[in-house]
Amino acid sequence: MRIPTPRRYLMCPPAHFEVAYSINPWMDPRKPVDPALALFQWEDLRDRYRGLGHTVEILDPVPGLPDMVFAANGATVVDGRVLGARFANPERAGEAPAHLAWFRERAAGFADIREPEHVNEAEGDFAVTAGWLLAGQGFRSSPLAHDEAQEFFGRPVISLELTDPRYYHLDTALAVLDDTADEIMYYPGAFSPGSRAVLARLFPDALLATAEDAAVLGLNAVSDGRNVLLPRGAAGLAAALRDRGYEPVGVDMSEFHKAGGSVKCCTMELRPAPAGA
Ligand code: ARG
Repeated sequence: MRIPTPRRYLMCPPAHFEVAYSINPWMDPRKPVDPALALFQWEDLRDRYRGLGHTVEILDPVPGLPDMVFAANGATVVDGRVLGARFANPERAGEAPAHLAWFRERAAGFADIREPEHVNEAEGDFAVTAGWLLAGQGFRSSPLAHDEAQEFFGRPVISLELTDPRYYHLDTALAVLDDTADEIMYYPGAFSPGSRAVLARLFPDALLATAEDAAVLGLNAVSDGRNVLLPRGAAGLAAALRDRGYEPVGVDMSEFHKAGGSVKCCTMELRPAPAGA
């Protein structure tokens, strides 16, 4: 029996979401986004989290920042400490200060906030397990940011190299399922041979995704330890999760796939300081 734990998430409504530029292979500015459908899908995701008993906080969207809906890229919060983002592409640079302002002015309980020195796209490339901070590089976050995150959070960082441009962020290729027991799922084809070997060594029982499930962004998933919200098309993963005792919850995020993002990209997790700290 898998036990869910209540989470606190930060999401940013898609008020200004569109595909206006292309910074990953999913983005084609000639393919229009349906704004009403995008809002409907985003609200559905938000309401599902709330329905599962999680807290969803809202970050105000900023005009001219169409990718800001992908809140996971704006900061990494572990043990109540906040490491801001520094975006690789100028199109998204303005999102970082908007996130920092939210933590400084709007949110309670975050005293330790760091403006980063090196390029990191936050939870796009950082995944938190019980033992490790898994960190992607190759397309967006700098390896120098991995050292910076290790020093700031005091958690051992495992650097992983992404090699397929479709899986340009770690969270498009890997998701944490149980953050108390170091259980993850990932698509091996997204990683360099060395990184694949590292993952196999650290996570011998990981759930391995097929190319088909990866291609519908099935790994861009959010787990509370029991319920795993993932793109609806990832049928193979949903069945495999069920076999392992998880409750897969398929959600339709088609409009966001046009920008190369899905469930996890829209969801930043605010991980509290450990009790008594
Ligand atoms: N269009 C955005 C970009 O390329 C999508 C970001 C998706 N977010 C994520 N956490 N993978 O930057």
